Amino acid sequence: MLQIEQLSIRYEQKEVVHNFSFDVQKGEILSIIGPNGSGKSTILKAVARMLPYCSGTITFDQKNMRTLASKEIAKKMCILSQRNQAPSDITVRNLVAYGRYPHKKWFERLNDEDYAIVDWALEKTHLTHYQDQSIATLSGGESQRAWIAMALAQKPEILLLDEPTTYLDIAHQHEILELVRELNRETGLTVVMVLHDLNQASSYSDRIVVVKDGHCVQKGTPEEVMTEQMIQSTYKMEAEIQHVVWDTAPRIQLKNTVRS
Ligand SMILES: Nc1ncnc2c1ncn2[C@@H]1O[C@H](COP(=O)(O)OP(=O)(O)OP(=O)(O)O)[C@@H](O)[C@H]1O
Ligand SMILES: [Mg+2]
Repeated sequence: MLQIEQLSIRYEQKEVVHNFSFDVQKGEILSIIGPNGSGKSTILKAVARMLPYCSGTITFDQKNMRTLASKEIAKKMCILSQRNQAPSDITVRNLVAYGRYPHKKWFERLNDEDYAIVDWALEKTHLTHYQDQSIATLSGGESQRAWIAMALAQKPEILLLDEPTTYLDIAHQHEILELVRELNRETGLTVVMVLHDLNQASSYSDRIVVVKDGHCVQKGTPEEVMTEQMIQSTYKMEAEIQHVVWDTAPRIQLKNTVRS
């Protein structure tokens, strides 16, 4: 579905992503992991065409992304950044309704079908009761769900999520990731997400890409990628990997920081 080949990205003169290649298969959940500042958000933004890249190619359904119209991309792809900001007086329902605009012509109004999709997105994220509340009055978890609802209303083929569980307590982290998995399984939604928690990445991903200092250092299934060696070389942490018979996802137990 998406091919990222030899991508290099720089801010001013400083190159922060170097010859980065990976692909995303239709219907999979792919996670990008790596230390702070390693380039994860930069890669996600470049994929969504929010950032220019200095070399490399991104191909979406065999078409070079550079040649696609912004509206075409917005119909198929949605990105939720690490920090989403909406006008504080906007209601949950109106925020979610924004998701429909890439599908509309200039000045075209939303119709019954659009409103049905907005209702569906609110229901899926358990926000129906909050729909008339302003975004500013929501808790961190509710607000995160509202943004995901907006993304769902967009009905994208691929959803890019940058740390969707930040600011959430463990129950809400679980709820968001379960929702992502449910949508992936029920609707075939392709998901690329940046995660920090290695166990969450292990449990919820079909494949994982590991970024360190702007380089792709590993890619593969959680079983292939989650090794003591990868964690030590990427995070300078000692870890123990446990395999349990009833789950294919390896469990990671972090131990000490490795002193250099
Ligand atoms: N607008 C910018 N201008 C200059 N440098 C930037 C800019 N945005 C990011 N960088 C730098 O690029 C590098 C990669 O940043 P990026 O935000 O992609 O990292 P990340 O892996 O998402 O980190 P985190 O886990 O903290 O979110 C960092 O060194 C960062 O300081
Ligand atoms: Mg980031």
